[in-house]
Amino acid sequence: MSTTAQQLDSLVAPVPAAARARPAPRRLPLRATGLLAILGVMVLAMLLVAAALVFRGAVRGHLDAVEQADARWATALQLRAQETAAAGDGARLRDADQELRRIGGDRAAHLEASRQLIDGGTVVMACIAWLGITCIGALALLFFSRLATDIGAVRARALAILTGDRGRGRALERNDELSDLARALDELAEALDRRERDLDIQRRQVMHQEKLAAVGSMAAGVLREIGNPIAAIDGLARALAEAQRGGEAVAPGAAWFDPAQILHETSRLAAITHEISELAAAPAAQWQLASLNEVVAKSLALLRYEPRLEGVAVVPALDPQLPAVMGIADRLVQVVMNLVVNAADAVAALPPRTGRIEVATHRVDGGMALCISDNGSGMSEAVRERAFEPLFTTKAAGCGTGLGLPLCRSVVHEHGGRIDLDSAPGQGTRVRVWLPAGAGPAVQ
Ligand SMILES: Nc1ncnc2c1ncn2[C@@H]1O[C@H](COP(=O)(O)OP(=O)(O)OP(=O)(O)O)[C@@H](O)[C@H]1O
Ligand SMILES: [Mg+2]
Repeated sequence: MSTTAQQLDSLVAPVPAAARARPAPRRLPLRATGLLAILGVMVLAMLLVAAALVFRGAVRGHLDAVEQADARWATALQLRAQETAAAGDGARLRDADQELRRIGGDRAAHLEASRQLIDGGTVVMACIAWLGITCIGALALLFFSRLATDIGAVRARALAILTGDRGRGRALERNDELSDLARALDELAEALDRRERDLDIQRRQVMHQEKLAAVGSMAAGVLREIGNPIAAIDGLARALAEAQRGGEAVAPGAAWFDPAQILHETSRLAAITHEISELAAAPAAQWQLASLNEVVAKSLALLRYEPRLEGVAVVPALDPQLPAVMGIADRLVQVVMNLVVNAADAVAALPPRTGRIEVATHRVDGGMALCISDNGSGMSEAVRERAFEPLFTTKAAGCGTGLGLPLCRSVVHEHGGRIDLDSAPGQGTRVRVWLPAGAGPAVQ
């Protein structure tokens, strides 16, 4: 595996298993809590029913006793009346009177006991109902307020994940379906984090492949560029060899042999190989303050070798007052190169030497804009709508992958900017990239 691949793979570090393990409190699912609440209400109701039954039994017992006393009272009265009518002896009349008084006393005592029972029973049942309902109400209040707080925490966590937070959330002090949901959210955040890192790696690999493809497509231009210095050096070397073969001494300062010219040509060759090796180098993801104008200048210098730009006027119009942009210069170079190559493809069908591409930068509120305009074929509405779709291309197989514009958009978004395009068939295209001044990496 190459060093770059190893560096890239090291970015996909597995999440430590220890981070997942956490002692869970005793489990009490929400469903069981609901059942417990219903059970509590049922127990309270049963207590009240039992108390009511006991109360009813006791009151009825006293009322039955009062009823029996009434019956005995009536019999005793009847007996006394018979005794009086028969004018019986005084002792039996006295006994009957005593019996009547005793029955009357019993009756009054039972009535008093019933009264007290009704009062006492009512108070006891009211107390049971009040205490039970208050306890159940307090428990329900505690339960629902804790539930609401924890649901709020889970909601906040979900929103945090949505805005790019991939850390673990606050552990909930509960062990039910809600804590399962919170754990699932944590796992979702971890999975998203891993997926994003994988995607980032894939994106970098695609960018690198795009760069290599650009180097490949420039091969002809590079050969043409290096052909001239090689021919000059070759000519000088041949002249020198011929002079040596003829025994001719090369006098210092001889007009036909100038070592400075060789040095000039070799430094041209070195500059070309340096530019190309820089472009082909592995992606450097270093955020730093960069000059958009320098990015454009570097891109245009590299595009000198691009055969598709032969005979096309590439006109830079750079605003010298641009603020610095915080970004990865290498990626911004790729954006400019992709957009200019697209413009070059669009002007390819025009008559020779009429293609024109303008690369302009200027200040805008809060940042800077880069506009790349061409007078090429332009886009139909259908193409314009799908232009940023990955793998969408109108070019022949092997001529376009449909990754250029999606890559540009992903890089621009990563830099906190925006990209849009203005195009109509036959009217050319203008791609506008807006970048904020000095912004850092954006959450994607
Ligand atoms: N300047 C432009 N003028 C006209 N059409 C354009 C222009 N830029 C892009 N397009 C259209 O948008 C499509 C998608 O562009 P994109 O750069 O994503 O892919 P591509 O150029 O086809 O392939 P790749 O860039 O991967 O080699 C192109 O196929 C082309 O139809
Ligand atoms: Mg393209």
